[in-house]
Amino acid sequence: MQYSLTFPTGTVRYIFQAGFGELKDYMDFDNYVMLVDSRIVELNNGLVSKHPHIIIHAHESRKTWAQVSDICEQLLQLKADRNTTLIGIGGGITTDITGFVASIYMRGVPFGFIPTTLLAMCDAAIGGKNGINHQLQKNLIGTVQQPAFIFYDTIFLNTLPPEQWSNGFAEIIKYACLFDRALFDELEQNDITHYRNHPETLQLLIERCVDWKNNVVMSDEKESGRRKLLNFGHTAGHAIETLHQVPHGYAVAAGMMIAAKISEHETNLDPQVTERLKKLLQRYGLPVSLDIDTGKVMEVLNMDKKRNSTGIDYILLNNIGEAAIKHLPFPTITQALETYAHAGSH
Ligand SMILES: NC(=O)c1ccc[n+]([C@@H]2O[C@H](COP(=O)([O-])OP(=O)(O)OC[C@H]3O[C@@H](n4cnc5c(N)ncnc54)[C@H](O)[C@@H]3O)[C@@H](O)[C@H]2O)c1
Repeated sequence: MQYSLTFPTGTVRYIFQAGFGELKDYMDFDNYVMLVDSRIVELNNGLVSKHPHIIIHAHESRKTWAQVSDICEQLLQLKADRNTTLIGIGGGITTDITGFVASIYMRGVPFGFIPTTLLAMCDAAIGGKNGINHQLQKNLIGTVQQPAFIFYDTIFLNTLPPEQWSNGFAEIIKYACLFDRALFDELEQNDITHYRNHPETLQLLIERCVDWKNNVVMSDEKESGRRKLLNFGHTAGHAIETLHQVPHGYAVAAGMMIAAKISEHETNLDPQVTERLKKLLQRYGLPVSLDIDTGKVMEVLNMDKKRNSTGIDYILLNNIGEAAIKHLPFPTITQALETYAHAGSH
């Protein structure tokens, strides 16, 4: 299946249920360079050896200017010009870096993605946000520019380690919390093993998440309003990830629990909903509490892109499938984090 969607910064062609071997059949260009996660190269012997390619080191500590600069140098050596399409093959780190390099190399070249993690398939590759980290804050430096295509071959997921499946499910649970009560119910009935053993169900799940993300991005590509909802779990999550070196989805899971706890006070969320969320996160192998240094987390939150002088627009829940944006003063957030830090996993 394939379709195209047009956003303010470009038209994206979504190609689902495709095989990497057929990639050439879908490409209307022959001038390209693949930017490939080193792990994908290791796991798939010979996959890219016949293609012009650059190896990407997919680690948060290397989602940096230094790697971007190195990639630009290699692109010059490969004689990449303004008509060269960059194809990012890997997880969210690789797609974020590829989109960012493509946005700035020679003032912008075309690019596309082949996401290879569940998280990148359901979230990171979609929506046009590209970027790299600053040592003080994740994803501080970036652009909004849509890829020309996103090519889905779920065979890559066969090599994904268990913690990366959990990582991806954090974002899937996020969509369920924000928009899709039926999906929340479905996730409660199933588990990772079920989705791994039923490729068609997994395919539908991925396509449903792509739809939810596009639905939001279509109405607000530059995040002036509704797109902020996608930050559910990410405000505290990003700070925890910056400070505590845990995978993105794990930090988001902890962030969703913090947001649910705050929601109990701020939007009268039924505590039973928080309990259901906790059980669901645990069902998908995600942490519901992490040891956090509240003071340091607040320092990072003080530099958050979504802050103003008094506080942060926080994403809360009224109920499953019903989200709310509320401006929270910093002391309220500090207090919630302290309660969370002391509550541990109880
Ligand atoms: N741009 C966005 O809108 C957006 C949204 C969400 C997350 N992100 C970003 O995405 C990143 C997280 O993405 P991720 O979780 O995919 O991380 P990742 O790219 O680091 O991949 C996770 C790990 O899995 C390995 N890997 C990748 N594909 C594999 C495969 N098929 N088999 C085995 N191992 C494989 C990678 O080498 C890496 O070690 C973060 O940097 C986050 O900021 C961006």
